[in-house]
Amino acid sequence: MSQLSTGLGIDIGGTGIKGAPVDLSTGEFLAERRKLPTPEHSDPATVARSVEKIVTHFPEAADAPLGITFPGVVHDGVVHTAANLHKSWVGTDAIALFSEVIGRPVQVLNDADAAALAEARHGAAQDTSGVVLLTTLGTGIGTALIVDGHLVPNTEFGHLEIDGHDAETRASSGARQRDGLSYRDWAQQRLQRYYRVIEDLLWPTLIVVGGGVSRRSEEFLPYLDIRTPIVPAQLRNTAGVVGAASAASRGREGLSGH
Ligand code: BGC
Repeated sequence: MSQLSTGLGIDIGGTGIKGAPVDLSTGEFLAERRKLPTPEHSDPATVARSVEKIVTHFPEAADAPLGITFPGVVHDGVVHTAANLHKSWVGTDAIALFSEVIGRPVQVLNDADAAALAEARHGAAQDTSGVVLLTTLGTGIGTALIVDGHLVPNTEFGHLEIDGHDAETRASSGARQRDGLSYRDWAQQRLQRYYRVIEDLLWPTLIVVGGGVSRRSEEFLPYLDIRTPIVPAQLRNTAGVVGAASAASRGREGLSGH
Protein backbone atom coordinates (compact mmCIF):
# COMPACT_ATOMS: atom_id res chain seq x y z
CA MET A 1 0.00 0.00 0.00
CA SER A 2 1.62 3.30 -1.01
CA GLN A 3 1.87 5.32 2.18
CA LEU A 4 2.08 8.61 0.32
CA SER A 5 -1.42 8.32 -1.03
CA THR A 6 -2.95 6.44 1.89
CA GLY A 7 -4.62 7.82 5.01
CA LEU A 8 -6.42 6.00 7.80
CA GLY A 9 -9.76 7.55 8.75
CA ILE A 10 -11.90 6.79 11.80
CA ASP A 11 -15.41 8.19 12.19
CA ILE A 12 -16.83 8.26 15.73
CA GLY A 13 -20.62 8.45 15.74
CA GLY A 14 -23.36 8.26 18.34
CA THR A 15 -24.09 4.62 17.46
CA GLY A 16 -21.04 3.27 15.61
CA ILE A 17 -17.31 3.81 15.18
CA LYS A 18 -16.06 3.07 11.66
CA GLY A 19 -12.65 3.07 10.08
CA ALA A 20 -10.85 2.22 6.87
CA PRO A 21 -7.66 2.96 4.97
CA VAL A 22 -8.40 5.45 2.22
CA ASP A 23 -6.81 6.13 -1.15
CA LEU A 24 -6.42 9.88 -0.82
CA SER A 25 -6.31 10.56 -4.53
CA THR A 26 -9.64 8.87 -5.27
CA GLY A 27 -11.40 8.92 -1.88
CA GLU A 28 -11.96 5.17 -2.09
CA PHE A 29 -11.55 2.62 0.68
CA LEU A 30 -8.51 0.37 0.25
CA ALA A 31 -9.95 -2.37 2.48
CA GLU A 32 -13.32 -3.31 3.86
CA ARG A 33 -14.25 -0.90 6.62
CA ARG A 34 -14.23 -2.05 10.23
CA LYS A 35 -17.19 -1.03 12.40
CA LEU A 36 -17.71 -1.40 16.15
CA PRO A 37 -20.75 -0.23 18.11
CA THR A 38 -20.15 2.96 20.09
CA PRO A 39 -19.69 1.72 23.67
CA GLU A 40 -22.74 2.28 25.86
CA HIS A 41 -20.54 4.03 28.39
CA SER A 42 -19.04 6.39 25.84
CA ASP A 43 -16.47 8.17 28.02
CA PRO A 44 -13.10 9.15 26.49
CA ALA A 45 -11.05 6.18 27.73
CA THR A 46 -13.61 3.59 26.58
CA VAL A 47 -14.12 5.18 23.16
CA ALA A 48 -10.35 5.53 22.70
CA ARG A 49 -9.95 1.77 23.27
CA SER A 50 -12.51 1.05 20.53
CA VAL A 51 -10.72 3.43 18.18
CA GLU A 52 -7.44 1.72 18.94
CA LYS A 53 -8.99 -1.68 18.07
CA ILE A 54 -10.02 -0.34 14.68
CA VAL A 55 -6.59 1.19 14.07
CA THR A 56 -4.78 -2.06 14.87
CA HIS A 57 -7.14 -3.93 12.54
CA PHE A 58 -5.29 -2.26 9.64
CA PRO A 59 -1.57 -3.02 10.17
CA GLU A 60 -0.98 -2.25 6.50
CA ALA A 61 -1.78 1.40 7.26
CA ALA A 62 0.46 1.59 10.35
CA ASP A 63 2.46 4.50 8.91
CA ALA A 64 -0.40 6.30 7.22
CA PRO A 65 -1.59 9.66 8.58
CA LEU A 66 -4.43 9.03 11.03
CA GLY A 67 -7.51 11.24 11.22
CA ILE A 68 -10.37 10.82 13.68
CA THR A 69 -13.75 12.54 13.63
CA PHE A 70 -15.69 13.49 16.73
CA PRO A 71 -19.44 14.25 16.91
CA GLY A 72 -19.03 17.62 18.64
CA VAL A 73 -17.18 20.92 18.47
CA VAL A 74 -13.40 20.42 18.31
CA HIS A 75 -10.97 23.33 18.57
CA ASP A 76 -7.28 22.51 18.22
CA GLY A 77 -8.02 18.94 19.27
CA VAL A 78 -9.99 19.93 22.38
CA VAL A 79 -13.61 18.77 22.55
CA HIS A 80 -16.08 21.46 23.57
CA THR A 81 -19.47 19.76 23.14
CA ALA A 82 -20.70 16.15 23.16
CA ALA A 83 -24.46 16.11 22.63
CA ASN A 84 -24.65 12.37 21.91
CA LEU A 85 -21.64 10.99 23.80
CA HIS A 86 -20.66 10.96 27.47
CA LYS A 87 -20.41 14.47 28.90
CA SER A 88 -16.92 13.80 30.29
CA TRP A 89 -15.66 14.41 26.73
CA VAL A 90 -16.21 18.14 27.22
CA GLY A 91 -12.80 19.69 27.92
CA THR A 92 -10.91 16.54 26.82
CA ASP A 93 -7.84 17.07 24.66
CA ALA A 94 -8.74 14.41 22.10
CA ILE A 95 -5.47 14.72 20.19
CA ALA A 96 -3.48 14.08 23.37
CA LEU A 97 -5.77 11.20 24.40
CA PHE A 98 -5.79 9.36 21.07
CA SER A 99 -2.11 9.85 20.35
CA GLU A 100 -1.26 8.49 23.78
CA VAL A 101 -3.56 5.43 23.55
CA ILE A 102 -2.72 4.66 19.92
CA GLY A 103 0.92 5.68 20.02
CA ARG A 104 1.07 7.79 16.87
CA PRO A 105 0.18 11.34 15.83
CA VAL A 106 -3.48 12.00 15.06
CA GLN A 107 -5.64 14.78 13.67
CA VAL A 108 -9.12 15.23 15.20
CA LEU A 109 -11.99 17.16 13.62
CA ASN A 110 -15.77 17.44 13.75
CA ASP A 111 -17.58 14.60 11.94
CA ALA A 112 -19.73 16.76 9.68
CA ASP A 113 -16.72 18.92 8.79
CA ALA A 114 -14.85 15.79 7.74
CA ALA A 115 -17.78 14.63 5.63
CA ALA A 116 -17.94 18.02 3.94
CA LEU A 117 -14.21 17.98 3.10
CA ALA A 118 -14.73 14.60 1.45
CA GLU A 119 -17.82 15.68 -0.48
CA ALA A 120 -16.00 18.84 -1.62
CA ARG A 121 -13.01 16.84 -2.90
CA HIS A 122 -14.63 13.70 -4.22
CA GLY A 123 -18.40 13.98 -4.10
CA ALA A 124 -21.55 16.05 -4.40
CA ALA A 125 -19.95 19.44 -3.64
CA GLN A 126 -17.04 19.17 -6.09
CA ASP A 127 -16.44 22.34 -8.07
CA THR A 128 -19.40 24.11 -6.49
CA SER A 129 -18.75 27.74 -5.75
CA GLY A 130 -20.74 29.84 -3.30
CA VAL A 131 -22.11 28.51 -0.04
CA VAL A 132 -22.63 24.76 0.28
CA LEU A 133 -24.35 23.45 3.38
CA LEU A 134 -23.81 19.80 4.25
CA THR A 135 -26.16 18.25 6.79
CA THR A 136 -25.63 14.77 8.17
CA LEU A 137 -28.79 13.11 9.43
CA GLY A 138 -27.87 10.46 11.98
CA THR A 139 -28.19 10.15 15.75
CA GLY A 140 -27.98 13.96 15.72
CA ILE A 141 -27.79 16.52 12.92
CA GLY A 142 -24.31 17.58 11.92
CA THR A 143 -23.72 20.59 9.70
CA ALA A 144 -20.77 21.92 7.73
CA LEU A 145 -20.44 25.02 5.63
CA ILE A 146 -18.15 25.23 2.61
CA VAL A 147 -17.72 28.70 1.14
CA ASP A 148 -16.02 28.81 -2.27
CA GLY A 149 -14.24 25.57 -1.41
CA HIS A 150 -13.18 26.62 2.10
CA LEU A 151 -14.57 24.96 5.19
CA VAL A 152 -16.02 27.16 7.93
CA PRO A 153 -15.42 24.69 10.80
CA ASN A 154 -17.64 23.78 13.73
CA THR A 155 -20.98 25.15 12.60
CA GLU A 156 -23.70 23.65 14.81
CA PHE A 157 -26.93 24.31 12.92
CA GLY A 158 -28.26 20.95 14.08
CA HIS A 159 -28.90 22.69 17.38
CA LEU A 160 -30.93 25.59 16.03
CA GLU A 161 -33.94 26.10 18.24
CA ILE A 162 -37.00 25.62 16.06
CA ASP A 163 -40.55 25.79 17.45
CA GLY A 164 -39.10 25.56 20.94
CA HIS A 165 -37.04 22.40 20.27
CA ASP A 166 -33.38 21.67 19.68
CA ALA A 167 -33.74 20.89 15.95
CA GLU A 168 -31.87 17.57 16.00
CA THR A 169 -34.22 16.14 18.64
CA ARG A 170 -37.06 16.40 16.06
CA ALA A 171 -35.48 16.16 12.62
CA SER A 172 -32.53 13.75 12.94
CA SER A 173 -32.73 10.23 11.60
CA GLY A 174 -32.55 9.04 15.21
CA ALA A 175 -35.67 11.11 16.02
CA ARG A 176 -37.48 9.52 13.03
CA GLN A 177 -36.74 6.05 14.38
CA ARG A 178 -37.56 6.99 17.97
CA ASP A 179 -40.93 8.45 16.95
CA GLY A 180 -41.78 5.63 14.51
CA LEU A 181 -42.27 7.95 11.51
CA SER A 182 -42.30 6.77 7.90
CA TYR A 183 -39.73 8.47 5.64
CA ARG A 184 -42.50 10.46 4.03
CA ASP A 185 -43.94 11.68 7.34
CA TRP A 186 -40.47 12.50 8.62
CA ALA A 187 -39.82 14.57 5.48
CA GLN A 188 -43.13 16.38 5.57
CA GLN A 189 -43.46 16.87 9.32
CA ARG A 190 -39.87 17.41 10.40
CA LEU A 191 -37.32 17.91 7.59
CA GLN A 192 -39.47 20.35 5.65
CA ARG A 193 -39.56 22.79 8.57
CA TYR A 194 -35.87 22.30 9.36
CA TYR A 195 -34.62 22.93 5.82
CA ARG A 196 -36.94 25.89 5.30
CA VAL A 197 -35.62 27.61 8.42
CA ILE A 198 -32.00 26.94 7.55
CA GLU A 199 -32.30 28.04 3.91
CA ASP A 200 -33.96 31.27 5.04
CA LEU A 201 -31.03 31.95 7.38
CA LEU A 202 -28.11 30.95 5.13
CA TRP A 203 -29.37 31.15 1.55
CA PRO A 204 -26.96 28.40 0.45
CA THR A 205 -26.25 27.56 -3.20
CA LEU A 206 -26.62 23.84 -2.54
CA ILE A 207 -27.59 21.55 0.33
CA VAL A 208 -25.96 18.10 0.52
CA VAL A 209 -27.61 15.47 2.71
CA GLY A 210 -25.29 12.90 4.27
CA GLY A 211 -25.42 10.31 7.02
CA GLY A 212 -26.36 6.64 6.66
CA VAL A 213 -29.93 7.55 5.77
CA SER A 214 -28.77 9.38 2.63
CA ARG A 215 -28.71 6.01 0.86
CA ARG A 216 -32.53 6.11 1.10
CA SER A 217 -32.77 9.70 -0.06
CA GLU A 218 -35.32 8.89 -2.79
CA GLU A 219 -37.75 8.00 0.02
CA PHE A 220 -37.67 11.45 1.62
CA LEU A 221 -35.98 14.15 -0.50
CA PRO A 222 -38.78 14.23 -3.13
CA TYR A 223 -41.25 15.32 -0.42
CA LEU A 224 -39.30 18.46 0.44
CA ASP A 225 -40.57 21.72 -0.94
CA ILE A 226 -37.67 24.17 -0.58
CA ARG A 227 -36.04 26.64 -2.95
CA THR A 228 -32.46 25.40 -2.58
CA PRO A 229 -31.23 22.48 -4.68
CA ILE A 230 -30.85 19.55 -2.27
CA VAL A 231 -28.94 16.39 -3.20
CA PRO A 232 -27.77 13.24 -1.43
CA ALA A 233 -24.11 12.96 -0.50
CA GLN A 234 -22.23 10.96 -3.11
CA LEU A 235 -19.93 9.25 -0.67
CA ARG A 236 -22.96 8.27 1.41
CA ASN A 237 -21.81 7.03 4.75
CA THR A 238 -18.11 6.83 3.90
CA ALA A 239 -17.59 10.59 3.81
CA GLY A 240 -16.59 10.96 7.48
CA VAL A 241 -13.88 8.30 7.19
CA VAL A 242 -12.59 9.71 3.89
CA GLY A 243 -12.56 13.30 5.20
CA ALA A 244 -10.77 12.27 8.40
CA ALA A 245 -8.06 10.49 6.43
CA SER A 246 -7.59 13.38 4.08
CA ALA A 247 -7.53 16.02 6.84
CA ALA A 248 -4.83 13.98 8.59
CA SER A 249 -2.72 13.78 5.46
CA ARG A 250 -2.81 17.53 5.06
CA GLY A 251 -2.10 18.50 8.66
CA ARG A 252 -3.71 21.66 9.92
CA GLU A 253 -4.19 23.14 6.48
CA GLY A 254 -6.21 20.00 5.74
CA LEU A 255 -9.04 21.63 7.64
CA SER A 256 -9.86 23.71 4.60
CA GLY A 257 -11.75 22.60 1.55
CA HIS A 258 -8.78 22.99 -0.82
C1 BGC B 1 -23.14 17.63 17.38
C2 BGC B 1 -22.36 17.96 16.14
C3 BGC B 1 -22.22 16.72 15.28
C4 BGC B 1 -23.59 16.13 15.00
C5 BGC B 1 -23.52 14.85 14.20
C6 BGC B 1 -24.48 17.05 16.99
O1 BGC B 1 -25.22 16.71 18.14
O2 BGC B 1 -23.35 18.78 18.18
O3 BGC B 1 -21.09 18.47 16.46
O4 BGC B 1 -21.60 17.07 14.07
O5 BGC B 1 -24.28 15.86 16.21
O6 BGC B 1 -22.82 13.86 14.86
